[in-house]
Amino acid sequence: MTDHITISDGENGVRLIVIDRPQKKNALTGAMYDAMRGALEEADASAAIRAVVFAGQPGVFSAGNDLADFLGQARNGFSDAPALRFIRQLARTDTPMVAAVDGIAVGIGATLTLHCDLVYASSVARLRMPFVELGLVPEAASSYLLPLRVGRLKATELLLLSETLDADAAYALGLVNAVMPADMVVEHALAQAARLAALPQGALAASRRLIRGDRERVEAALEAEAKAFDVQLQSPESQQRLQAFLSRAKPA
Ligand code: COA
Repeated sequence: MTDHITISDGENGVRLIVIDRPQKKNALTGAMYDAMRGALEEADASAAIRAVVFAGQPGVFSAGNDLADFLGQARNGFSDAPALRFIRQLARTDTPMVAAVDGIAVGIGATLTLHCDLVYASSVARLRMPFVELGLVPEAASSYLLPLRVGRLKATELLLLSETLDADAAYALGLVNAVMPADMVVEHALAQAARLAALPQGALAASRRLIRGDRERVEAALEAEAKAFDVQLQSPESQQRLQAFLSRAKPA
């Protein structure tokens, strides 16, 4: 149970999943991942829920994994972490997913959008994937999906150099469908999700499978990443950088 994820279902078949931990920039804890995974599993199991929208708070979609939790996972291992279970569910979810990204989207806050069928961003959206900077490796199949989507050279800037993508740059790369004023993003995402929800469901499901390509390759990529992630999470270089963020000291 967590108060930091709110889930509401519309009569039009659209489920809205809101990340609601603004005091920590919507950083995601294990309980929050579990709540989001459960919300996706339920969506797939329910005939009434036909599309899902992810949204955050004004100016903050998500600052990614809670970095204090990462330190705990280093002790317990990443192989069965709530984050990884959520990522696995993202890759296998059959219900169409739409992201409404306003403000910062860091780490999984950015990589989860790679699994969404439609992505809408506010003009102040900022995507960043600083895994390597933190002594970690990319996750959520981003090492596979991002080169596929933007080419290997651009993906290298984003995944190795942790360059920030503003909304217009993300749009130019085809990572978001449209950029709009912040107060319109969630409403627009919900409206587009409602359009998906109203489509003939058999045709939608079959077409979606064709568009998204080989799910097994995505799953193989995220499992390979998870193995490397587990190793890196326990490395002194990542421990030092995670501690540095938490104590706000600069790494040596
Ligand atoms: N995990 C845990 N706590 C986080 C967090 C995270 N990923 N991101 C932000 N927070 C917390 C901060 O520690 C701070 O808590 P405090 O008020 O108790 O000190 C609070 O959220 C506000 O963050 P702050 O850094 O002061 O806000 P900002 O607007 O200056 O910067 C970010 C926002 C997102 C740019 C910055 O917080 C950041 O870089 N966070 C880490 C992002 C990250 O590396 N995620 C993991 C990727 S793999």
